[in-house]
Amino acid sequence: MDFELKTLGLAAAAGEKCDALVMLVGESFKPGKDALSKLAGEAIKAGDLEPKPGKMLQAYRASGVAAPRVLLAGCGDGSGKRVQAAVQAAVGSLRTSGIKRLVICLPGDAEEDAVRAAVCATAEASYVYVATKSKPEGRELKRVTIAVRDARAHETAFHAARAAANGIEYARELGNLPPNHATPTRLGDEARKLAKTHGLQCEVLGPKEVAKIGMGSFLAVAQGSEQPLRFIVLKYQGAAAGEAPVVLVGKGITFDSGGISIKPSQDMDEMKFDMGGAASVLGTFRALGELRPALNVVGLIPSCENMPDGRSVKPGDIVSSLSGQTIEILNTDAEGRLILCDALTYAQRFKPAAVVDVATLTGACVVALGGVRSGLFASDESLAQALLDAGEAALDPCWRMPLDEEYAEGLKSNFADVANVAGRAGGAVNAAKFLQRFAADYPWAHLDIAGTAWKSGGAKGATGRPVGLLVQFLLGRGGLATEKPARRGAKRKSA
Ligand code: BES
Ligand code: MN
Ligand code: ZN
Repeated sequence: MDFELKTLGLAAAAGEKCDALVMLVGESFKPGKDALSKLAGEAIKAGDLEPKPGKMLQAYRASGVAAPRVLLAGCGDGSGKRVQAAVQAAVGSLRTSGIKRLVICLPGDAEEDAVRAAVCATAEASYVYVATKSKPEGRELKRVTIAVRDARAHETAFHAARAAANGIEYARELGNLPPNHATPTRLGDEARKLAKTHGLQCEVLGPKEVAKIGMGSFLAVAQGSEQPLRFIVLKYQGAAAGEAPVVLVGKGITFDSGGISIKPSQDMDEMKFDMGGAASVLGTFRALGELRPALNVVGLIPSCENMPDGRSVKPGDIVSSLSGQTIEILNTDAEGRLILCDALTYAQRFKPAAVVDVATLTGACVVALGGVRSGLFASDESLAQALLDAGEAALDPCWRMPLDEEYAEGLKSNFADVANVAGRAGGAVNAAKFLQRFAADYPWAHLDIAGTAWKSGGAKGATGRPVGLLVQFLLGRGGLATEKPARRGAKRKSA
């Protein structure tokens, strides 16, 4: 889908040739003399439209408007969150009407979070999964114009939003693929393809190489599967080679049956989404490739299946991790931490400025936070704050969780340095405490996206979270920050 940002007042927008026009109407709306604002003004006066998000009114062949369909949509205070809700509702309602060309008019006082929200919400609401349908009825929407009063003022935010939306969509597409398609091998191939199109470096290691490095914990999870494991290393270089990178680590379990500690069969299909962390890292790299911010980023993706088999790892088995620590595997279903711990140790070799791992790690995190906020655990205060802020700005929020030493108590083992599970209580924190043992040498944060990476029920599907958060976070570090007018050139002289 093509997005463009255009300077268009309401009078000019009314003349735009398109299949539908969405006009966002905020609380501060004052009708002018043009056809669109007259329409909105009259509708408000008659009580047929309120400037609240979720309130909509459709008109057909309104006089003075070139678009046959006009959708007036309330957007409250015009904040990112309200614009998101309004655009989701509007684009959602136009979804099946065969619209190819759409114009969305933001309120006159729209700020950059509104631009970002409009782009991402349009992409989100119009996405259609077709990869494994025999009669693919795909996305109809081809071209979307975001109309604002001053396009130049919003250009940076717009480009960032468009790249983030592409990254989110890519992560959704990978996440939604069935587990017989999205194998570790396929993820490796996707990473290579991504590297080729976007000028990234990429290395994909197989079982032999991973064994040679000594990732005994990762190998143990993979050993019960017919699918060979992959360890993906992606590198984006946007700054001097000597500059310490941010390392992103994504859990890439392409199917989590639980292994010998097998899961109940109810909803087990949803464990194809257990590579959501990996998908979000790939999606973020796609956005980096498009935006080319001034920083270095390394992506690490340990990927395998977790399956029951005669060769599977068993409860009670003890393995040697890359860090040298031995691990007693008491529950083979706590496999995410077993593949992540070796990747976290591997991350040390890059002397990172910060490491952020992203994982659909615990059912307990779903219980704690549901599908609204991802769980954030961090050993470093400024890293935590940056991720919290990025989540709010990108409307992809997370919530800080604790890491008190007492939570590590339950991970004690009589036979190894550490056990891979503790009690059920505080399960998301126990898992984070396990990971923290392997992330002591750099500022570290962990995002538990078990509740946010996908939706269940009728809307079952990957969300692409937390690509929005990660892109925002990285742009904040990489000089392509969207807020600062100083970055856009001549306006400010001294720093
Ligand atoms: N992939 C799951 C976590 C998960 C479960 C995500 C349900 C979303 C919904 C993870 O590998 C897992 O199975 N975790 C166990 C850990 C337990 C055995 C300590 C869990 O959460 O039950
Ligand atoms: Mn599991
Ligand atoms: Zn899992």
